[in-house]
Amino acid sequence: MSGFSADWLARREPFDHAARASAAAAFDWKALATQLRGEGTGDAAITVLDLGCGTGASLREVAPRLGGTQRWRLVDHDAALLAAVPGTLTRWAHAQGWQVRPQGEAAVLRIDGGGLRLDVEWLHADISAGFGALPVDGTQLVTCSALLDLVSQPWLEALVARCAGGGAAVCWALSVDGRLAWADADADDALVHEAFRAHQRRDKGFGTALGDAAVEAATQVLTAAGYCLHAAESDWVVDGRCGAADRAMLQALIEGFVSAAIEQCPMHTTRCDAWCARRLATLGATRLRVGHVDLIGWLSPNAGRGEG
Ligand SMILES: C[S@@+](CC[C@H](N)C(=O)[O-])C[C@H]1O[C@@H](n2cnc3c(N)ncnc32)[C@H](O)[C@@H]1O
Repeated sequence: MSGFSADWLARREPFDHAARASAAAAFDWKALATQLRGEGTGDAAITVLDLGCGTGASLREVAPRLGGTQRWRLVDHDAALLAAVPGTLTRWAHAQGWQVRPQGEAAVLRIDGGGLRLDVEWLHADISAGFGALPVDGTQLVTCSALLDLVSQPWLEALVARCAGGGAAVCWALSVDGRLAWADADADDALVHEAFRAHQRRDKGFGTALGDAAVEAATQVLTAAGYCLHAAESDWVVDGRCGAADRAMLQALIEGFVSAAIEQCPMHTTRCDAWCARRLATLGATRLRVGHVDLIGWLSPNAGRGEG
């Protein structure tokens, strides 16, 4: 769960997809696309930068909602995940009946179909080191998903300053907000959850991680920078009664919670192991809701202008 393997990202993608669909229904994508393209500019290309792209899940969610012509740059520091990007995007596009063509250079694909023309490029970069080498300037939309809990407050502030400086809109999805709710309670849920939440604050390469404070922090920093923000819950609902995929996801989550909790609080190993055994024994009869929030925002026309 913590290694971000392509297998883990593929396991979570159907749950991410359902969660993001529920949040997306609350957003005005047409207004965002118009804001990005500018009134009366027809089908001008929207330029998007996706930070911590994994295998490109954010593109698969956001591009069809914006429609038209878009140029995406996907950035990750994990070479194995980047290597999976072209195959994953090609399978996704072909499943919709769309065309995919490599574009001369090694790491560029063009996807055509369903009212979309996407030019997609993927870049290897460690974003914790700053944004100097990243093509943020000239980007109209900066996206990320399941990233903000990993980053630190100073890193977030630097990102927002860079986005605001370039006038970029943001679409930041699937940030955990700390809610974990089981359909059936266990006496040690709080023990495991608290240790897991504390583990989420450990440094993931960006300094002390925001963990479940990410949504609040992003909301504050973006609002202070003049962004008009829209937020919607994008919770995972994982129901062991719904089939093997849900049970496998529940198992991965339970094992991930426990391994983090034991690393954080080794003195509670026996209780954490017992919680794990009880939870695994009742996988097929329970449901877990994991709280996330999606944010989209753009700079209001008056941002940065004083009165008078
Ligand atoms: C939870 S995964 C989410 C991946 C993808 N956005 C998704 O929603 O499926 C977090 C991603 O951030 C990337 N990441 C973590 N630290 C990074 C860093 N310092 N530089 C670039 N990418 C990083 C990981 O490799 C991973 O792909």
